Amino acid sequence: MSSSVASRSTEPPDNDIVFFARLRRAGVGLRHAEFVMDQFTKEEQRDTKTNWWSVFQSEKNRLGTGMLDTFLGPRGRGKTAMASMLVGCECWRNTEPLYATAMELAADIRKSFEDHSDRRRRFERCSLLVIDEFHRADKTDWAERLMESLLDHRYRYKRDTIIIGNDSPEDFVKHCGSSVASRIKECGKIVILDGEDFRLIGDKHE
Ligand SMILES: Nc1ncnc2c1ncn2[C@@H]1O[C@H](COP(=O)(O)OP(=O)(O)O)[C@@H](O)[C@H]1O
Ligand SMILES: [Mg+2]
Repeated sequence: MSSSVASRSTEPPDNDIVFFARLRRAGVGLRHAEFVMDQFTKEEQRDTKTNWWSVFQSEKNRLGTGMLDTFLGPRGRGKTAMASMLVGCECWRNTEPLYATAMELAADIRKSFEDHSDRRRRFERCSLLVIDEFHRADKTDWAERLMESLLDHRYRYKRDTIIIGNDSPEDFVKHCGSSVASRIKECGKIVILDGEDFRLIGDKHE
């Protein structure tokens, strides 16, 4: 397995199966876990000349800084894939990153009130938290307060968080709430991924 994609390695996985299992345990879906596996293990499949790849490299260098970065752009531009790659970098180091959509996250925490489990702590403490589909987040008071306090907790403990949405930057800042917006200003970057639609590129080759 090549290590050049994940340079902060401390405890690399024993083999591909362990790495894949870590990705899936982190919540990365099968499709994106397979994509990450290919990028990590099959150098010939990496297209390192693209803007996507250079953005990935600069985001990778921000891991461990307590970042609160936001990936925005239309569908199919590789937002989830890039965040999954960053989860992959953390899996490589054998830390415990987590990926969830905003809706899954809220539902999971809500469930923990029923079964008294400690799911919320997992989201607070994981090394990297990716919150995908932020534009679909539950807009109830409860869910908004939950999101704000989770992001505030991670901010205070300098844990990396990535938020993914489909909004324009202006709409995103308007809708994410003033507390989140001000934290993004301090330790976040808004990354716009609006290159070619990878889903259409795939069609062209079929
Ligand atoms: N850099 C890339 N090179 C090739 N295929 C990619 C790349 N990024 C994403 N893809 C593929 O394109 C599709 C859409 O990517 P995805 O990350 O789901 O887009 P988004 O989250 O922006 O809607 C997926 O099948 C993914 O594996
Ligand atoms: Mg996506």
